[in-house]
Amino acid sequence: MNVSTRKFRFGGRESVVTFGRIEDAVGEESASGLVVCDANTQRFAGSFELAKVVLEAGEEHKNWKSIERILDTAVKLKLGRDSRIIGIGGGVVCDMAAFAASVFMRGCRVTLAPTTLLAMVDASIGGKTGIDFAGYKNLVGSFYPAERVHISVQTLLTLPERDYRSGLAEVIKHALLGAEDLLELLEKEQKRFIEREAGAVESSISRSLDIKGAFVERDFTEDGIRAHLNFGHTFAHALEAATGFGGFSHGEAVAWGMTRALAAGVVTGITDKAYAERVRQLLERYGYFTGALPKGVTVQSVMAAMTQDKKKRRGDLRFVLQRNCGDTLITALDEAVVREVLTTDQVSKIR
Ligand SMILES: NC(=O)c1ccc[n+]([C@@H]2O[C@H](COP(=O)([O-])OP(=O)(O)OC[C@H]3O[C@@H](n4cnc5c(N)ncnc54)[C@H](O)[C@@H]3O)[C@@H](O)[C@H]2O)c1
Repeated sequence: MNVSTRKFRFGGRESVVTFGRIEDAVGEESASGLVVCDANTQRFAGSFELAKVVLEAGEEHKNWKSIERILDTAVKLKLGRDSRIIGIGGGVVCDMAAFAASVFMRGCRVTLAPTTLLAMVDASIGGKTGIDFAGYKNLVGSFYPAERVHISVQTLLTLPERDYRSGLAEVIKHALLGAEDLLELLEKEQKRFIEREAGAVESSISRSLDIKGAFVERDFTEDGIRAHLNFGHTFAHALEAATGFGGFSHGEAVAWGMTRALAAGVVTGITDKAYAERVRQLLERYGYFTGALPKGVTVQSVMAAMTQDKKKRRGDLRFVLQRNCGDTLITALDEAVVREVLTTDQVSKIR
């Protein structure tokens, strides 16, 4: 697979993705700017002479207070619209650095150097920025693609296993959404991915970006096809809510959610059964939970979380299903179907 510079056009703005050493994340074009990182990623920002805002790590700090700290520093440094905010970190840092850049002087320049696999294949790409607000995830934000995204797989070596696996689930999702070649690679080269072998990881990121980038280029503001990227997420959000956002990482929940969406497709006659079983086996081999429901989680609690989600969205709950690899659709599902896949253990056992 070809790992090289990628150029995307998201909503009329160019986003250039490069691969290389983390030391090259900040180029000469960033003479005026500031670095945003968190307590765990400041180690990657050490060589840069720019001022740094070191935020506390974690989703609970994805809020106004952190944005104010970034903006306050930008004002103190007398940055201008031409200055650059450089986010070095996971999805939380990337979302906030880009959000701050989108509102500072109505939009200054932004570079993202993602340091989690999830941020490399997802959060840093496609222009969604934001913070959590009033108890809702990503309620406040903007569409503001990073002008530059610099990916350095060397940073993944210090990433905790759980966070790495969380990102890997999104890589698998991207493969299912349209890259049979990546799917085969993930099947054949599992050891290389589990061991974070740089070549395998870099090429899977690169291929993942092709997939996500193509969806976002076609539908920047998510009025249609971009929603396919939410494959597995309706079930995942419900599981995360039912387990108090602590039991499962987002990626683990998405992996499980994809098996449930495929099971729902099998029940309704939409999904090729052999494909659903192939994906389930792959996810199981990578260590994700693929049964109907994890121990201790009730059908009622997941259904209640879905109802809650539906209320929040003020409309029907839509599910992203697949007929096969790269053949995706969005549909509503009968409650009986959802119940069935939450109680039937394996896709192969369903009709
Ligand atoms: N904008 C988007 O399109 C988009 C897409 C997906 C997810 N997101 C957002 O991304 C966030 C989740 O991102 P995440 O999973 O990267 O979580 P995260 O940013 O919280 O990072 C996970 C943990 O790993 C630490 N970390 C990061 N890089 C490290 C490294 N190389 N070595 C050691 N520790 C490191 C972080 O400090 C943090 O403690 C969520 O807020 C979600 O809403 C945004």
